[in-house]
Amino acid sequence: MMEIPCTKREMDLFESVAKAARQIGVPAYLIGGFVRDKLLDRPTKDMDIVCVGDGIALAHQVARLLDPSLKVNFFKTYGTAQIKFDDTEIEFVGARRESYRDHSRNPEVEPGTLEDDQLRRDFTINALAISLNEADYGKLIDPFNGLKDLADKLIRTPLEPGQTFSDDPLRMMRAIRFASQLNFTILPETFQAIIDNASRIKIISQERITDELNKIMLSAKPSVGLDLLYRSGILKIIFPQMVDLVGVEMLEGKGHKDNFYHTLQVIDNISRHTRDLWLRWAALLHDIGKPATKRFEAGHGWTFHGHDAVGGKMVPRIFTRLKLPLNEKMRLVKKLVELHLRPISLTKENITDSAIRRLLFDAGEDLEALMMLCEADITSKNRAKVRRYLENFELVRERLKEVEESDRIRNWQPPVTGELIMETFGLKPGKLVGDLKSAIREAILDGEISNNYDAAYAFMLKKAAELNLTPVK
Ligand code: CTP
Repeated sequence: MMEIPCTKREMDLFESVAKAARQIGVPAYLIGGFVRDKLLDRPTKDMDIVCVGDGIALAHQVARLLDPSLKVNFFKTYGTAQIKFDDTEIEFVGARRESYRDHSRNPEVEPGTLEDDQLRRDFTINALAISLNEADYGKLIDPFNGLKDLADKLIRTPLEPGQTFSDDPLRMMRAIRFASQLNFTILPETFQAIIDNASRIKIISQERITDELNKIMLSAKPSVGLDLLYRSGILKIIFPQMVDLVGVEMLEGKGHKDNFYHTLQVIDNISRHTRDLWLRWAALLHDIGKPATKRFEAGHGWTFHGHDAVGGKMVPRIFTRLKLPLNEKMRLVKKLVELHLRPISLTKENITDSAIRRLLFDAGEDLEALMMLCEADITSKNRAKVRRYLENFELVRERLKEVEESDRIRNWQPPVTGELIMETFGLKPGKLVGDLKSAIREAILDGEISNNYDAAYAFMLKKAAELNLTPVK
């Protein structure tokens, strides 16, 4: 009997691994994230198998049993192999003992027992193994009390933590990621070892760091992981612009809010409404321009004028450094950072339709995302204030809806195209055509003319006449 709940398909796969292991005479065990997640009742997919012997040979034997045409990917130097069966990835490795040299992540490896292998793993909750061997099939093998740590929600290393982290510094980020993702606590000694080893994160590739950072961003409360990254000293190394947001300065008895903790709250707020990674990134970066624009105005207090535009400019640089994709996702984040103050500016009185039309035009199809960010940005502790802001946003939403219904600005296409302008006046592509196009757009956004072909065509003729242009036919 398996000590973890499994589907019939998973059971069949384990039977195949067990049979293959018996045929080549190596003990095999299911280990790592699969066992952990099953015990936590979380969705699982990938399986890790460790065997006391040759992992690559076992992978080949399993493939032969499952489907002889299955491809086995293997890395001789690391003694690991991988097969993909339907959409499950199965990783195989021979049990080993490892010691790492100081300057790199490349371990010196020698074959070891199952317990050696469990000991070299990152956390007790990831070192749980399940036997796939005849004598004790399905039995949980837990030499480091991983099961108890799972129940107590604790991140603890099997070895002395300094050793585990200096062996593989990525594990510091993994500890923080698991704490955030699973809502676990990192044992104080373990966390102290992360603080002590923080600078070793520098030897890890940016892709792997960012991978963990994104997993933190996708957890239910990303603030848990981000705050741990900050308190461990790792954030300062991997993302210093975030740390620049920390702190409150007082002058003439006036302070400002701590923009770091405000930002963490905004991410948690938005994360209650969306799982979209890029909206969460927009929340993380919305105030990133504040440190660079911070001023004290005597008699008035702290200001951050232009932090939206400055923040927007920082986005491509930050994405480049973090090796995040430089595509439309980055452009979305940049746009949301740039526009994040606009809806709030529309909550004031006497807002013209033209201001509303301009926001509809600038936000376009990302209007809902922008409104979500703005609502998440309200972090006042004063409940009455929060309610008032949210009500004001409701009014803005209504105005946006009304103006959109009458003017159709949101996915705006020019009612008179550049081609038509060129054709009408016999022009070649160039500045003049662009000037006419933008004059028409501005007239529509300002409400001077309606958003339709006839009005735009008439306006074009009028504007062209002012420029001494005459239609060619
Ligand atoms: N492992 C480790 N040190 C690492 C990475 C992984 O000791 N730096 C071990 C852990 O036992 C882990 C297993 O290898 O459980 C598999 O690693 P991986 O698939 O990367 O992570 P999971 O624990 O499966 O978790 P997730 O899929 O959420 O990343």
